Amino acid sequence: MMTNYGTPSRTFVSGKGCVLTDDQGRTYLDFLAGIATNVLGHAHPAVTKAVTKQISTLAHVSNFFAHPQGLLLASRLQKMTGDSNARVFFCNSGAEANEAALKISRRTGRSRIVATQGSFHGRTMGALSMTGQPSKREPFTPLLKGISHVPYGDLSAMSRAVSKKTAMVIVEPIMGEAGVITPEDGYLAGLRAICDRVGALLVFDCVQTGIGRTGQWFGFEHENVHPDVVTLAKGIGGGLPLGATIAYGRAAQLLQPGDHGTTFGGNPVACAAANAVLDVIENKKLMQSAKVFERKIKKGLSSTPGVADIRGRGLLLGIELSSPIAKELANAMLGAGVIVNAANERTIRIAPPLIVTTSQIDKFITTFKKVLKEVDHG
Ligand SMILES: Cc1ncc(COP(=O)(O)O)c(C=O)c1O
Repeated sequence: MMTNYGTPSRTFVSGKGCVLTDDQGRTYLDFLAGIATNVLGHAHPAVTKAVTKQISTLAHVSNFFAHPQGLLLASRLQKMTGDSNARVFFCNSGAEANEAALKISRRTGRSRIVATQGSFHGRTMGALSMTGQPSKREPFTPLLKGISHVPYGDLSAMSRAVSKKTAMVIVEPIMGEAGVITPEDGYLAGLRAICDRVGALLVFDCVQTGIGRTGQWFGFEHENVHPDVVTLAKGIGGGLPLGATIAYGRAAQLLQPGDHGTTFGGNPVACAAANAVLDVIENKKLMQSAKVFERKIKKGLSSTPGVADIRGRGLLLGIELSSPIAKELANAMLGAGVIVNAANERTIRIAPPLIVTTSQIDKFITTFKKVLKEVDHG
């Protein structure tokens, strides 16, 4: 394999619920879930059953034709938007979902885009052009023209950056890759007002914050705001590759036949997995439990020496450390059998499966405190 991911320190061979097993037989509590992807953990019986049934019935049809799992999933996503005019485009990843949003915005007849500094929207050239992280962009210039980046959370800067030439504004409701950066309440509604003033589309990239992770279907719903486009991936397929671009109202009519497409997007097997994921989240009330666990983790860790702050919502949390030891701490946690991620030098990001149990949360808190103490004093 190419060296783009660096050298992995573990090889995993199996998983069950929130526990992964490596090729040496060691087990790990998975508090990263494929970076906010395995919402039902590993080998969930509902996903396994749905995928097995679907692959033995119909694995693939071209996008010249429809199939029941895709239609069902599209109608469920439409229902979540509360907009009977909303329409869905299925693809395979978050980057592709954002590429589709970009192409929708071009169909407004405008081409400028405003995104935020520190944001992450994917690695394909369009998505990378919108990504606000210089280290990821610079090796690949020239990128798309006409895209500017303003500080996240700053409505005045956004207001100055947009004009009647702006096709779209794209923002993550919580910046995940940047270290789980949560904006102040009112930011998302403020973006809506700014976009309305100039007639620009408002796009929420919910690739990391969608599908129940923050305690609601989409990561923006704690504010009463209606975007024009929402992008999803990661959690929606419960581990299978699936992305979705949902456009509301007028924006849903912008793409014309022949404008866009992908061979595997909305594949029956991935859609069957997604329908199973939505069933379990609804039936087991996993969005409610995400909120309960958020409070438990915040309460359990907030007064721990070495923890400066805990950001985020539901089960997407960034634990800000008092010193820049996040990488060392994540490695030590792995050694202690718990998978977390160092989003930056000072932030540990956790995004466990939504099916995580109270005792697994307790185990995480205890291990985190112990390992942080060792690393901090070591
Ligand atoms: C907010 C956000 N958008 C887009 C992406 C890109 O998704 P993918 O890796 O599936 O292309 C990510 C991935 O981390 C993400 O967090």
